[in-house]
Amino acid sequence: MGILDKHVVLEKNATLLLVGSLLVVTVGGIVEIAPLFYLENTIEDVEGVRPYSPLELEGRNIYIREGCYVCHSQMIRPMRDEVERYGHYSLAAESQYDHPFQWGSKRTGPDLARVGGRYSDEWHVDHLKDPQSVVPESVMPKYAFLADRLIEPKYIEDLMKANQIVGVPYTDEQMENAEADWLAQADPDSDYDGLLARYPKAQVRNFDGAPGVSEMDALIAYMQMLGTLVDFSTFTPDASR
Ligand code: HEC
Repeated sequence: MGILDKHVVLEKNATLLLVGSLLVVTVGGIVEIAPLFYLENTIEDVEGVRPYSPLELEGRNIYIREGCYVCHSQMIRPMRDEVERYGHYSLAAESQYDHPFQWGSKRTGPDLARVGGRYSDEWHVDHLKDPQSVVPESVMPKYAFLADRLIEPKYIEDLMKANQIVGVPYTDEQMENAEADWLAQADPDSDYDGLLARYPKAQVRNFDGAPGVSEMDALIAYMQMLGTLVDFSTFTPDASR
């Protein structure tokens, strides 16, 4: 009897086939899953990736609240067309501090993983207020109201605390300075040395160009940071893992 003939026994007996299938799936599952429990970390640390600054985190919350992820992804796949259009493919570490992650599942608009620095703040203000004013064929909704909604850092410490609970390693120093850093990032006349030490590469500006800190400021601060933390001119993938 050849091996294929023996397989006929399995195929003709439903119970035996079920038991056999279960066995195969169990072994396969263990082989795939068990090693993950023994790895210290499944995400390779990458230089430059840091927890979001208080103002960036605030903007990120607005991004989530407004459902921007419904039309925009934040994950560049390692395929040539995507890399040529959007830049270096996304690294796992780049969404390391995202709770929840913003990979998205649909691209009605372009991927935003590396949108930081691609446009000026003024462009973002015009575009968010009235997308069709800069891209006539755009189907993106208007978000002009964001500019009128002035905000305060009243809950920023709570927001950072919530992120801390799910694993973002905000330090005591970062927590203590949460409100001050939030305010400093939107005010170019502030004393922002501490902010830059705690959040390297944080961009300090009056993002919407209008007095007071608005939701527009926070959202633009977040978008101008996207994809700018890792220096890809020096990044080398670690092939040893
Ligand atoms: C209904 C779908 C939809 C929603 C919701 C949406 N967008 Fe867009 N977005 C688009 C489309 C389509 C484009 C391309 C045309 C354009 O630039 O307006 C775009 C373009 C953009 C761009 C320019 C990207 C580039 O590389 O050119 C940015 C930035 C952006 N959107 C941010 C946002 C933000 C922030 C939100 C949430 C406040 C948002 N979008 C919500 C559809 C959407």
